[in-house]
Amino acid sequence: MRIEAIGRHPACIESLARWHHQEWGALYDGWTLDVATAELHDHATRTSLPTTLLLMDGDDLLGSVSLLIEDAPALQDRGSPWLGSLFVRPEARGRGSGRRLVEAAVAHAAGEGVAVLRLFTLWHEDFYASLGWQVEERTSLHGTPVVIMSIRPALRVAHTGDPFDPARTTHD
Ligand SMILES: CC(C)(COP(=O)(O)OP(=O)(O)OC[C@H]1O[C@@H](n2cnc3c(N)ncnc32)[C@H](O)[C@@H]1OP(=O)(O)O)[C@@H](O)C(=O)NCCC(=O)NCCS
Repeated sequence: MRIEAIGRHPACIESLARWHHQEWGALYDGWTLDVATAELHDHATRTSLPTTLLLMDGDDLLGSVSLLIEDAPALQDRGSPWLGSLFVRPEARGRGSGRRLVEAAVAHAAGEGVAVLRLFTLWHEDFYASLGWQVEERTSLHGTPVVIMSIRPALRVAHTGDPFDPARTTHD
């Protein structure tokens, strides 16, 4: 398994956009499949933010995570950037893939000089807490309770290892 920049796998964009849209389409007004697809095509043009990292097993796409300038507009006054769109395909879950993607995104953010990275989550507070994220605020988004969490990427990487370098491929 390896983490790679989405720009190396443009053929994955359509499937990934479908998965993302199925998972979160109902949460965001106007976030159509076409918009989700266009965002990923845009991410494929760069490894600086905003961008998306993929977890690949051979030619198989297992999951992805994005580093975004803005995630939910209503939370934008809390800061930027955000980790978002963490997704592992259902048959690959429970084997550490989600953990690996989050750690790769944090390491990539550290390499980009991000001082504080945030995310919001509905159901996965414990998962992120186990990866060093801290609760910043409990609030609501369109009437749904969410938890805003943050991490200092440079400190986390100093604790866990080298920054992810999107120019190279990382193997187990
Ligand atoms: C959340 C998601 C990415 C986790 O992926 P995964 O590959 O199953 O996660 P991992 O196998 O790396 O799990 C790592 C650890 O977190 C735990 N964990 C996973 N989901 C959890 C949850 N909701 N609450 C608490 N712990 C959780 C696992 O048990 C595992 O613990 P362990 O290391 O002690 O065994 C995956 O379930 C998914 O894609 N869900 C749909 C999209 C989604 O909800 N994304 C998150 C948006 S905030």
